[in-house]
Amino acid sequence: MTGNTIEELPGVGPATAEKLRDAGYSDLMAIAVESPKVLAELVEIGESTATKIIASAKQMADVGGFETGDIILERRKGINRLSSGSKAFDELMGGGLESQSIIEFFGEFGSGKTQICFQLAVNATRPVEEGGLNGDVFIIDTENTFRPERIVQMAVALDLDPEEVLKKIHVARAFNSHHQMLLVEKANELAHEMNVKLLIVDSLTAHFRAEYVGRGSLAERQQNLNKHMHDLLRFADLHNAVIAVTNQVSSKPDAFFGDPTRPIGGHIVGHAATYRLYLRKSKGGKRIARLIDSPNLPEAEAVITVSEEGVRD
Ligand code: GTP
Ligand code: MG
Repeated sequence: MTGNTIEELPGVGPATAEKLRDAGYSDLMAIAVESPKVLAELVEIGESTATKIIASAKQMADVGGFETGDIILERRKGINRLSSGSKAFDELMGGGLESQSIIEFFGEFGSGKTQICFQLAVNATRPVEEGGLNGDVFIIDTENTFRPERIVQMAVALDLDPEEVLKKIHVARAFNSHHQMLLVEKANELAHEMNVKLLIVDSLTAHFRAEYVGRGSLAERQQNLNKHMHDLLRFADLHNAVIAVTNQVSSKPDAFFGDPTRPIGGHIVGHAATYRLYLRKSKGGKRIARLIDSPNLPEAEAVITVSEEGVRD
């Protein structure tokens, strides 16, 4: 991300650098925004040393500059929109899922998160005129729930050649949260040779939740999740891609966030996601999708169905 590494910070030797990395501070930006007290505690250094390190990180981090609105508008003209298969849902999203953004689906087990991801994957391979992105798809599968058979069913329902569709969907299993993060880097490399227009992470948070248990690991978990979200956003910008991620709600009071209906990862995930959708089950295979948090759309709901053919109105 930046040209400078944390070793180049004045007063940071190899030992401190290692401690910083172990605590989740692998780039200058993460250090630059930390408070001296927290950094001192997590890295086991004095608070005045931490203050100096943070000040240097602020100077060296590539914070970037300001852009004028017209340039941003120009870039946004390049935004693509991916259809979900449901008109009502597409309308909820302002005409489909936007590229250059992260869309988070959260809800309890069986609420349809994975099914929606499958449908998006199939749709993304379709031509633009048909609501697709005419592109390849990457899926980072953390729970081993990818089912090519479902892709075939959904492709056939749309009169597509299932073989052709499957060839455009590239799936990688992630075995732990670090592996999951590395796969985004790998995806970035591969995306230069391919026309990747959709990246799915299903589930975004399961590994993080399983690996970081207890209050003592909260800071590290959130640091890594934060970095992961920003890597994903960068992928979205670089490749003008749609990023779809799934997230569970805690069925029992979460050690960190208490509320049993809260999505995992709390504010870190919520703030980095451009659109946040809450899915819940309703009668007869129906699902209700509620748009919770959007920079430009009202909070509203859409009803969708999940059937053998996939996602529909
Ligand atoms: P977790 O990953 O466990 O948190 O759940 P999820 O939200 O990913 O759930 P998922 O998308 O896997 O939804 C599973 C549900 O989709 C099932 O309970 C079914 O209701 C529905 N479903 C899956 N496959 C089919 C199918 O072939 N036909 C029909 N009619 N429904 C299906
Ligand atoms: Mg799932």
